[in-house]
Amino acid sequence: MKLAILSRAPRSYTTARLRTAAFDRGHQVKVLNTLRFAIDLSTDEPDLQFRGRPLSHYDAILPRIGNSVTYFGTAVVRQFEQMDVYTPNTANGIANSRDKLRATQILSRHNIGMPPTTFVRDRADVIPAIERVGGAPVVLKLLEGTQGIGVILAPSLKVAEAIIETLQSTRQNVLIQRFVSESRGRDIRALVVGDRVVAAMRRVAKGDEFRSNVHRGGSTEAVTLDPAYEETAVRAAQIMGLRVAGVDMLEGQDGPLVMEVNSSPGLEGIEGATKLDIAGAIIDFIDNQVAFPEIDVRQRLTVSRGYGVAEIVVHAASELVGGPLAESGLRDKDVTVLTLHRGPRVIPNPRPGLALEDGDRLLCFGKLEEMRSMIPARRPRRVKKLPRTPIHEA
Ligand SMILES: Nc1ncnc2c1ncn2[C@@H]1O[C@H](COP(=O)(O)OP(=O)(O)O)[C@@H](O)[C@H]1O
Ligand SMILES: [Mg+2]
Repeated sequence: MKLAILSRAPRSYTTARLRTAAFDRGHQVKVLNTLRFAIDLSTDEPDLQFRGRPLSHYDAILPRIGNSVTYFGTAVVRQFEQMDVYTPNTANGIANSRDKLRATQILSRHNIGMPPTTFVRDRADVIPAIERVGGAPVVLKLLEGTQGIGVILAPSLKVAEAIIETLQSTRQNVLIQRFVSESRGRDIRALVVGDRVVAAMRRVAKGDEFRSNVHRGGSTEAVTLDPAYEETAVRAAQIMGLRVAGVDMLEGQDGPLVMEVNSSPGLEGIEGATKLDIAGAIIDFIDNQVAFPEIDVRQRLTVSRGYGVAEIVVHAASELVGGPLAESGLRDKDVTVLTLHRGPRVIPNPRPGLALEDGDRLLCFGKLEEMRSMIPARRPRRVKKLPRTPIHEA
Protein backbone atom coordinates (compact mmCIF):
# COMPACT_ATOMS: atom_id res chain seq x y z
CA MET A 1 0.00 0.00 0.00
CA LYS A 2 0.94 3.63 -0.25
CA LEU A 3 0.78 5.24 3.18
CA ALA A 4 1.12 8.84 4.31
CA ILE A 5 1.99 9.54 7.93
CA LEU A 6 0.69 12.99 8.82
CA SER A 7 3.18 14.41 11.27
CA ARG A 8 5.08 17.59 12.00
CA ALA A 9 7.88 15.68 13.70
CA PRO A 10 9.48 13.37 11.12
CA ARG A 11 12.46 12.75 13.39
CA SER A 12 10.52 11.89 16.53
CA TYR A 13 10.85 8.31 17.76
CA THR A 14 7.22 7.43 17.00
CA THR A 15 7.12 8.80 13.46
CA ALA A 16 10.50 7.27 12.64
CA ARG A 17 9.41 3.87 13.96
CA LEU A 18 6.14 3.91 12.01
CA ARG A 19 7.94 4.94 8.85
CA THR A 20 10.56 2.20 9.29
CA ALA A 21 7.94 -0.46 10.06
CA ALA A 22 6.01 0.43 6.89
CA PHE A 23 9.15 0.50 4.78
CA ASP A 24 10.39 -2.84 6.13
CA ARG A 25 7.07 -4.43 5.16
CA GLY A 26 7.47 -3.34 1.58
CA HIS A 27 4.99 -0.45 1.65
CA GLN A 28 5.50 2.93 0.05
CA VAL A 29 5.53 5.44 2.87
CA LYS A 30 5.91 9.21 3.17
CA VAL A 31 5.87 11.49 6.17
CA LEU A 32 3.89 14.60 5.24
CA ASN A 33 3.82 17.75 7.34
CA THR A 34 0.19 18.24 8.34
CA LEU A 35 0.45 22.01 8.06
CA ARG A 36 1.61 21.97 4.43
CA PHE A 37 -1.68 20.71 3.02
CA ALA A 38 -4.20 22.90 1.28
CA ILE A 39 -7.80 21.77 1.35
CA ASP A 40 -9.17 22.28 -2.13
CA LEU A 41 -12.91 22.72 -2.41
CA SER A 42 -12.95 24.52 -5.74
CA THR A 43 -13.42 21.48 -7.98
CA ASP A 44 -16.24 18.89 -8.29
CA GLU A 45 -14.37 16.30 -6.27
CA PRO A 46 -12.86 16.90 -2.82
CA ASP A 47 -9.13 17.35 -3.28
CA LEU A 48 -5.91 18.14 -1.46
CA GLN A 49 -2.76 19.98 -2.40
CA PHE A 50 0.56 19.40 -0.68
CA ARG A 51 3.27 22.07 -0.73
CA GLY A 52 1.32 23.82 -3.48
CA ARG A 53 1.11 20.78 -5.78
CA PRO A 54 -1.68 18.28 -6.35
CA LEU A 55 -1.32 15.34 -3.98
CA SER A 56 -0.72 11.93 -5.53
CA HIS A 57 -3.00 9.03 -4.61
CA TYR A 58 -2.62 7.37 -1.22
CA ASP A 59 -4.34 4.20 -0.01
CA ALA A 60 -4.19 5.14 3.64
CA ILE A 61 -3.12 7.82 6.07
CA LEU A 62 -1.96 7.57 9.65
CA PRO A 63 -2.69 10.90 11.33
CA ARG A 64 -0.46 12.03 14.18
CA ILE A 65 -2.18 15.31 14.95
CA GLY A 66 -0.61 17.30 17.78
CA ASN A 67 -2.65 19.29 20.28
CA SER A 68 -1.57 22.62 18.87
CA VAL A 69 -2.97 21.93 15.39
CA THR A 70 -6.20 20.09 16.15
CA TYR A 71 -8.46 22.28 14.05
CA PHE A 72 -6.41 22.33 10.85
CA GLY A 73 -5.19 18.77 11.33
CA THR A 74 -8.67 17.30 11.70
CA ALA A 75 -9.82 19.32 8.67
CA VAL A 76 -7.08 17.64 6.62
CA VAL A 77 -8.04 14.20 7.93
CA ARG A 78 -11.70 14.90 7.13
CA GLN A 79 -10.72 15.84 3.60
CA PHE A 80 -8.92 12.50 3.18
CA GLU A 81 -12.08 10.79 4.46
CA GLN A 82 -14.12 12.62 1.84
CA MET A 83 -11.65 11.33 -0.75
CA ASP A 84 -12.27 7.74 0.50
CA VAL A 85 -8.72 7.33 1.74
CA TYR A 86 -8.57 4.94 4.69
CA THR A 87 -7.68 6.37 8.10
CA PRO A 88 -7.67 4.35 11.34
CA ASN A 89 -8.56 7.49 13.27
CA THR A 90 -11.31 9.70 11.92
CA ALA A 91 -11.41 13.48 12.24
CA ASN A 92 -14.38 13.13 14.58
CA GLY A 93 -12.58 10.57 16.71
CA ILE A 94 -9.54 12.80 17.04
CA ALA A 95 -11.61 15.89 17.89
CA ASN A 96 -13.79 14.00 20.38
CA SER A 97 -10.89 12.50 22.28
CA ARG A 98 -8.88 15.69 22.32
CA ASP A 99 -11.22 17.58 24.59
CA LYS A 100 -11.34 15.88 28.01
CA LEU A 101 -14.87 17.07 28.74
CA ARG A 102 -16.27 16.01 25.39
CA ALA A 103 -14.58 12.61 25.68
CA THR A 104 -16.00 12.08 29.17
CA GLN A 105 -19.47 13.06 27.99
CA ILE A 106 -19.35 10.61 25.10
CA LEU A 107 -18.02 7.72 27.20
CA SER A 108 -20.39 8.35 30.10
CA ARG A 109 -23.45 6.76 28.50
CA HIS A 110 -21.68 3.51 27.66
CA ASN A 111 -21.02 1.91 31.05
CA ILE A 112 -17.31 2.71 30.98
CA GLY A 113 -15.80 3.23 34.42
CA MET A 114 -14.46 6.78 34.85
CA PRO A 115 -13.40 8.88 37.82
CA PRO A 116 -16.43 10.94 38.94
CA THR A 117 -16.12 14.19 36.99
CA THR A 118 -17.99 17.45 36.92
CA PHE A 119 -17.88 20.69 35.00
CA VAL A 120 -19.26 24.01 36.18
CA ARG A 121 -19.02 27.61 35.17
CA ASP A 122 -20.48 29.76 37.90
CA ARG A 123 -18.42 30.57 40.99
CA ALA A 124 -21.29 29.62 43.27
CA ASP A 125 -21.33 26.09 41.84
CA VAL A 126 -17.63 25.30 42.39
CA ILE A 127 -17.67 24.16 46.03
CA PRO A 128 -20.81 22.02 45.69
CA ALA A 129 -19.28 20.45 42.56
CA ILE A 130 -16.08 19.53 44.39
CA GLU A 131 -18.11 18.07 47.23
CA ARG A 132 -20.18 16.06 44.77
CA VAL A 133 -17.10 14.23 43.48
CA GLY A 134 -15.88 13.48 47.01
CA GLY A 135 -14.32 16.71 48.31
CA ALA A 136 -10.67 17.71 48.63
CA PRO A 137 -8.04 16.73 47.70
CA VAL A 138 -9.44 17.04 44.22
CA VAL A 139 -8.00 16.88 40.70
CA LEU A 140 -8.45 19.85 38.35
CA LYS A 141 -7.80 19.52 34.64
CA LEU A 142 -7.58 21.88 31.73
CA LEU A 143 -9.76 20.53 28.93
CA GLU A 144 -6.97 20.23 26.38
CA GLY A 145 -3.90 19.52 28.48
CA THR A 146 -1.42 16.81 27.60
CA GLN A 147 1.72 15.19 29.06
CA GLY A 148 0.47 15.98 32.54
CA ILE A 149 0.57 19.73 32.00
CA GLY A 150 -2.67 21.29 33.18
CA VAL A 151 -3.46 18.51 35.66
CA ILE A 152 -3.39 19.79 39.24
CA LEU A 153 -4.01 18.16 42.62
CA ALA A 154 -5.65 20.75 44.86
CA PRO A 155 -5.19 19.86 48.53
CA SER A 156 -8.12 21.84 49.93
CA LEU A 157 -11.43 23.39 48.93
CA LYS A 158 -9.98 26.88 49.33
CA VAL A 159 -7.00 26.21 47.06
CA ALA A 160 -9.20 24.44 44.50
CA GLU A 161 -11.56 27.39 44.41
CA ALA A 162 -8.68 29.85 43.98
CA ILE A 163 -7.13 27.82 41.15
CA ILE A 164 -10.43 27.52 39.31
CA GLU A 165 -11.08 31.24 39.68
CA THR A 166 -7.62 32.09 38.37
CA LEU A 167 -7.92 29.78 35.38
CA GLN A 168 -11.41 30.99 34.55
CA SER A 169 -10.25 34.59 34.69
CA THR A 170 -7.85 33.74 31.85
CA ARG A 171 -10.73 32.08 29.97
CA GLN A 172 -9.57 28.53 30.57
CA ASN A 173 -12.12 25.82 31.28
CA VAL A 174 -11.45 23.34 34.06
CA LEU A 175 -12.77 19.88 34.82
CA ILE A 176 -13.22 18.86 38.44
CA GLN A 177 -12.45 15.19 39.08
CA ARG A 178 -12.29 12.90 42.09
CA PHE A 179 -8.74 12.16 43.17
CA VAL A 180 -8.45 8.40 42.82
CA SER A 181 -6.00 7.98 45.70
CA GLU A 182 -6.03 4.17 45.70
CA SER A 183 -4.23 4.31 42.37
CA ARG A 184 -1.25 5.86 44.26
CA GLY A 185 0.47 7.72 41.44
CA ARG A 186 0.20 4.78 39.08
CA ASP A 187 -1.81 4.29 35.96
CA ILE A 188 -2.16 1.90 33.04
CA ARG A 189 -1.57 2.82 29.41
CA ALA A 190 -3.13 0.30 27.02
CA LEU A 191 -2.32 0.53 23.35
CA VAL A 192 -5.37 -0.40 21.33
CA VAL A 193 -5.06 -1.37 17.67
CA GLY A 194 -8.30 -2.39 15.99
CA ASP A 195 -10.26 -4.43 18.48
CA ARG A 196 -7.47 -5.61 20.72
CA VAL A 197 -4.89 -4.35 23.16
CA VAL A 198 -1.50 -5.01 21.55
CA ALA A 199 0.59 -3.81 24.48
CA ALA A 200 0.16 -2.36 27.95
CA MET A 201 2.34 -0.80 30.57
CA ARG A 202 2.04 0.55 34.06
CA ARG A 203 3.44 4.01 34.67
CA VAL A 204 4.60 4.95 38.14
CA ALA A 205 4.98 8.58 39.13
CA LYS A 206 8.31 9.85 40.37
CA GLY A 207 8.72 10.65 44.08
CA ASP A 208 5.69 12.37 45.58
CA GLU A 209 4.36 13.43 42.16
CA PHE A 210 0.85 12.06 41.52
CA ARG A 211 0.99 12.31 37.72
CA SER A 212 2.56 9.24 36.17
CA ASN A 213 3.21 10.72 32.70
CA VAL A 214 6.59 9.75 31.26
CA HIS A 215 7.10 13.47 30.53
CA ARG A 216 6.74 14.10 34.26
CA GLY A 217 9.48 11.61 35.07
CA GLY A 218 7.24 8.56 35.48
CA SER A 219 8.83 5.14 35.05
CA THR A 220 7.33 2.32 33.03
CA GLU A 221 6.96 -1.44 33.28
CA ALA A 222 5.23 -3.96 31.02
CA VAL A 223 2.03 -5.48 32.44
CA THR A 224 -0.36 -8.21 31.43
CA LEU A 225 -3.82 -6.75 31.70
CA ASP A 226 -6.86 -8.28 33.37
CA PRO A 227 -9.60 -8.98 30.84
CA ALA A 228 -11.71 -6.22 32.44
CA TYR A 229 -9.00 -3.66 31.67
CA GLU A 230 -8.55 -4.95 28.13
CA GLU A 231 -12.23 -4.86 27.40
CA THR A 232 -12.64 -1.37 28.83
CA ALA A 233 -9.71 -0.05 26.80
CA VAL A 234 -10.96 -1.53 23.54
CA ARG A 235 -14.52 -0.32 24.11
CA ALA A 236 -13.39 3.18 25.06
CA ALA A 237 -11.32 3.46 21.87
CA GLN A 238 -14.17 2.10 19.77
CA ILE A 239 -16.73 4.47 21.24
CA MET A 240 -14.42 7.40 20.54
CA GLY A 241 -14.08 6.27 16.91
CA LEU A 242 -10.36 5.49 17.16
CA ARG A 243 -8.77 2.31 15.81
CA VAL A 244 -5.32 3.28 17.07
CA ALA A 245 -5.37 4.74 20.56
CA GLY A 246 -3.57 4.95 23.88
CA VAL A 247 -6.12 4.49 26.65
CA ASP A 248 -5.13 5.75 30.12
CA MET A 249 -6.79 4.05 33.07
CA LEU A 250 -6.48 4.37 36.82
CA GLU A 251 -6.67 1.23 38.92
CA GLY A 252 -9.77 1.98 40.98
CA GLN A 253 -11.15 -0.09 43.86
CA ASP A 254 -13.77 -1.61 41.58
CA GLY A 255 -11.74 -1.86 38.41
CA PRO A 256 -10.59 0.31 35.54
CA LEU A 257 -11.35 4.04 35.46
CA VAL A 258 -10.69 5.62 32.08
CA MET A 259 -9.08 9.06 32.27
CA GLU A 260 -8.44 9.72 28.63
CA VAL A 261 -8.11 8.23 25.17
CA ASN A 262 -5.16 9.51 23.15
CA SER A 263 -5.45 9.55 19.38
CA SER A 264 -1.69 9.98 18.77
CA PRO A 265 -0.09 7.77 21.40
CA GLY A 266 3.70 7.94 21.65
CA LEU A 267 5.46 4.62 21.10
CA GLU A 268 8.82 5.19 22.72
CA GLY A 269 7.81 4.46 26.31
CA ILE A 270 5.62 1.49 25.56
CA GLU A 271 7.90 -0.17 22.98
CA GLY A 272 10.78 0.33 25.41
CA ALA A 273 8.86 -1.20 28.32
CA THR A 274 7.35 -4.13 26.43
CA LYS A 275 9.99 -4.74 23.72
CA LEU A 276 7.10 -5.30 21.31
CA ASP A 277 6.96 -4.10 17.71
CA ILE A 278 3.90 -1.92 18.17
CA ALA A 279 4.65 0.23 15.13
CA GLY A 280 4.61 -2.98 13.06
CA ALA A 281 1.26 -4.02 14.57
CA ILE A 282 -0.23 -0.62 13.62
CA ILE A 283 1.06 -0.82 10.04
CA ASP A 284 -0.18 -4.42 9.62
CA PHE A 285 -3.60 -3.40 10.90
CA ILE A 286 -3.85 -0.50 8.44
CA ASP A 287 -2.73 -2.77 5.61
CA ASN A 288 -5.55 -5.17 6.53
CA GLN A 289 -8.18 -2.45 6.69
CA VAL A 290 -7.33 -0.42 3.60
CA ALA A 291 -10.14 -2.05 1.66
CA PHE A 292 -12.67 -0.65 4.15
CA PRO A 293 -12.51 3.13 4.25
CA GLU A 294 -14.50 4.66 7.09
CA ILE A 295 -17.96 5.67 5.93
CA ASP A 296 -20.06 8.21 7.72
CA VAL A 297 -23.08 5.91 7.76
CA ARG A 298 -25.58 8.43 8.95
CA GLN A 299 -24.54 10.97 6.34
CA ARG A 300 -24.64 8.39 3.53
CA LEU A 301 -27.93 6.83 4.57
CA THR A 302 -29.79 10.09 4.93
CA VAL A 303 -29.42 11.17 1.33
CA SER A 304 -32.57 9.36 0.12
CA ARG A 305 -35.53 11.62 0.74
CA GLY A 306 -37.64 10.51 3.67
CA TYR A 307 -35.18 7.85 4.77
CA GLY A 308 -32.77 8.00 7.68
CA VAL A 309 -31.32 6.33 10.75
CA ALA A 310 -33.08 6.16 14.10
CA GLU A 311 -32.93 4.25 17.34
CA ILE A 312 -36.10 2.46 18.40
CA VAL A 313 -36.35 1.35 22.03
CA VAL A 314 -38.35 -1.77 22.82
CA HIS A 315 -40.56 -1.01 25.84
CA ALA A 316 -42.20 -3.53 28.13
CA ALA A 317 -45.59 -2.20 27.09
CA SER A 318 -44.98 -2.50 23.35
CA GLU A 319 -46.21 -5.44 21.30
CA LEU A 320 -42.63 -6.00 20.09
CA VAL A 321 -41.50 -7.61 23.36
CA GLY A 322 -41.19 -11.39 23.39
CA GLY A 323 -41.77 -11.92 19.71
CA PRO A 324 -39.07 -12.64 17.16
CA LEU A 325 -37.68 -9.78 15.15
CA ALA A 326 -39.19 -11.25 11.96
CA GLU A 327 -42.70 -10.73 13.39
CA SER A 328 -42.09 -7.19 14.58
CA GLY A 329 -43.60 -5.85 11.35
CA LEU A 330 -40.61 -3.58 10.88
CA ARG A 331 -39.68 -5.09 7.53
CA ASP A 332 -43.20 -4.45 6.17
CA LYS A 333 -42.82 -0.83 7.18
CA ASP A 334 -39.61 -0.68 5.13
CA VAL A 335 -37.44 -0.52 8.24
CA THR A 336 -34.22 -2.55 8.46
CA VAL A 337 -32.57 -3.28 11.80
CA LEU A 338 -28.81 -2.71 11.55
CA THR A 339 -27.77 -3.52 15.12
CA LEU A 340 -29.43 -4.46 18.37
CA HIS A 341 -28.05 -3.06 21.64
CA ARG A 342 -28.87 -5.13 24.73
CA GLY A 343 -27.25 -3.70 27.86
CA PRO A 344 -23.53 -3.58 27.14
CA ARG A 345 -23.85 -6.10 24.30
CA VAL A 346 -24.15 -5.24 20.63
CA ILE A 347 -25.63 -7.75 18.19
CA PRO A 348 -24.83 -6.78 14.58
CA ASN A 349 -27.31 -7.78 11.85
CA PRO A 350 -29.71 -9.48 14.29
CA ARG A 351 -31.28 -12.67 12.90
CA PRO A 352 -35.01 -12.77 12.11
CA GLY A 353 -35.55 -15.42 14.81
CA LEU A 354 -34.05 -13.34 17.62
CA ALA A 355 -36.62 -12.67 20.39
CA LEU A 356 -36.86 -9.04 21.42
CA GLU A 357 -36.56 -8.07 25.08
CA ASP A 358 -37.68 -5.10 27.13
CA GLY A 359 -35.02 -2.39 26.91
CA ASP A 360 -33.50 -3.55 23.60
CA ARG A 361 -32.41 -0.66 21.42
CA LEU A 362 -32.68 -1.19 17.68
CA LEU A 363 -30.57 0.93 15.39
CA CYS A 364 -32.69 1.12 12.26
CA PHE A 365 -32.57 2.42 8.73
CA GLY A 366 -35.83 3.16 7.05
CA LYS A 367 -38.72 5.50 6.38
CA LEU A 368 -38.53 8.26 8.94
CA GLU A 369 -42.31 8.70 8.96
CA GLU A 370 -42.80 5.04 9.95
CA MET A 371 -40.11 5.16 12.59
CA ARG A 372 -41.35 8.41 14.08
CA SER A 373 -44.47 6.70 15.40
CA MET A 374 -42.28 4.19 17.23
CA ILE A 375 -40.09 6.76 18.93
CA PRO A 376 -41.64 8.41 21.98
CA ALA A 377 -42.59 11.94 20.95
CA ARG A 378 -40.11 14.38 22.38
CA ARG A 379 -40.86 17.69 20.80
CA PRO A 380 -44.07 19.26 19.64
CA ARG A 381 -44.20 19.06 15.87
CA ARG A 382 -45.36 22.56 15.14
CA VAL A 383 -43.91 25.77 16.47
CA LYS A 384 -46.53 27.40 18.64
CA LYS A 385 -47.68 31.01 18.50
CA LEU A 386 -45.79 33.47 20.65
CA PRO A 387 -47.77 33.75 23.91
CA ARG A 388 -49.66 36.95 24.73
CA THR A 389 -47.19 37.76 27.54
CA PRO A 390 -43.88 36.41 26.29
CA ILE A 391 -42.09 37.31 29.53
CA HIS A 392 -43.66 37.34 32.96
CA GLU A 393 -42.98 36.45 36.57
CA ALA A 394 -42.81 32.71 37.19
N1 LIG B 1 -8.57 11.62 38.95
C1 LIG B 1 -7.29 11.28 39.11
N2 LIG B 1 -6.89 10.64 40.24
C2 LIG B 1 -5.58 10.30 40.41
N3 LIG B 1 -4.60 10.54 39.51
C3 LIG B 1 -4.94 11.17 38.36
C4 LIG B 1 -6.30 11.57 38.10
N4 LIG B 1 -6.34 12.16 36.88
C5 LIG B 1 -5.08 12.15 36.41
N5 LIG B 1 -4.22 11.55 37.27
C6 LIG B 1 -2.78 11.37 37.05
O1 LIG B 1 -2.32 12.45 36.23
C7 LIG B 1 -1.83 11.97 34.97
C8 LIG B 1 -2.23 12.91 33.84
O2 LIG B 1 -3.65 12.98 33.69
P1 LIG B 1 -4.37 12.88 32.28
O3 LIG B 1 -5.82 13.10 32.51
O4 LIG B 1 -3.97 11.62 31.60
O5 LIG B 1 -3.80 14.17 31.51
P2 LIG B 1 -2.72 14.30 30.35
O6 LIG B 1 -3.52 14.45 29.10
O7 LIG B 1 -1.98 15.55 30.66
O8 LIG B 1 -1.87 13.05 30.34
C9 LIG B 1 -2.41 10.58 34.84
O9 LIG B 1 -1.58 9.77 34.05
C10 LIG B 1 -2.50 10.10 36.28
O10 LIG B 1 -1.26 9.57 36.73
MG1 LIG C 1 -2.60 11.07 30.03
